[in-house]
Amino acid sequence: MTWIVTGGAGYIGAHVVHLLRERHEVVVFDDLSAGRRERLPEDVPFVRGSVTDRDALDRLFERYPPSGVIHLAARKVTSDSVHQPELYAVVNVTGLENVVAAMRQAGVQRLLFASSAAVYGDSGSAPVHEDHPLLPVNPYGDTKRRAEEVIDGAGAGLRALTFRQFNVVGAGTHPWAVDLTSTCLLPAAFQALTGGPELVVRGRYFGTPTAPPCATTCMSPTSRRRTSAGSTSSPGRRPTGTGWSTWAAAPGRR
Ligand SMILES: NC(=O)c1ccc[n+]([C@@H]2O[C@H](COP(=O)([O-])OP(=O)(O)OC[C@H]3O[C@@H](n4cnc5c(N)ncnc54)[C@H](O)[C@@H]3O)[C@@H](O)[C@H]2O)c1
Repeated sequence: MTWIVTGGAGYIGAHVVHLLRERHEVVVFDDLSAGRRERLPEDVPFVRGSVTDRDALDRLFERYPPSGVIHLAARKVTSDSVHQPELYAVVNVTGLENVVAAMRQAGVQRLLFASSAAVYGDSGSAPVHEDHPLLPVNPYGDTKRRAEEVIDGAGAGLRALTFRQFNVVGAGTHPWAVDLTSTCLLPAAFQALTGGPELVVRGRYFGTPTAPPCATTCMSPTSRRRTSAGSTSSPGRRPTGTGWSTWAAAPGRR
């Protein structure tokens, strides 16, 4: 089976590609706007292009007829999305529309889509269940919500699975596996620890009973299936604005 991974040179994409190639043929399609070619094994075919370019997608599907697509390509920095909402809409929504259209043309049905917990916005309650109202509070979250609607409206020809990821962390064991996005929590924490800008934590105690800040995923209603949320954190208090380094150093409190 051949899988096309859009955004495969990104942080999550590199992990997916390295695991997937153990059992399948993998082709990466990425414009390298945030990705790095050196994250990828040399023997994995790489095509540089943008999901906003429908012709490039058609050529890709012609050259590497896939069994399915893992669509990770997106702009993901929420603060940027406030300043550049049109760019986020074009890449995250139109880009997905192009991928779905190219799949339809090539007769490909399987799609795995990386959505985000940002579709929920500030829910005001915890835990947030899969069927919680979708009320994104920034353009990034809104593009993910609209992308999910595209998948919902694609009809029976598409067999899609959507993951609503939330603050994915971890770096395997390889140098290529690190997240380089300076606005994400772990990179920001390590930059602060190695002399970079101070880590700003907004708020002090949110009182959530199980505080799951890391690696939580759930499936959208499009999947018609549920999975349990996978949290790598311990129950208890969240770190306060001044307690980060103590919290990070304490054994068993991740
Ligand atoms: N990292 C997280 O915590 C997190 C949380 C929720 C959702 N997500 C979603 O998961 C996916 C992957 O996230 P990531 O953390 O690996 O991000 P990333 O920025 O490291 O990877 C995204 C990849 O997409 C590529 N890309 C961007 N625009 C493109 C375009 N127009 N055409 C082709 N490629 C393009 C980038 O070059 C990059 O390689 C994204 O869709 C993101 O929205 C990530």
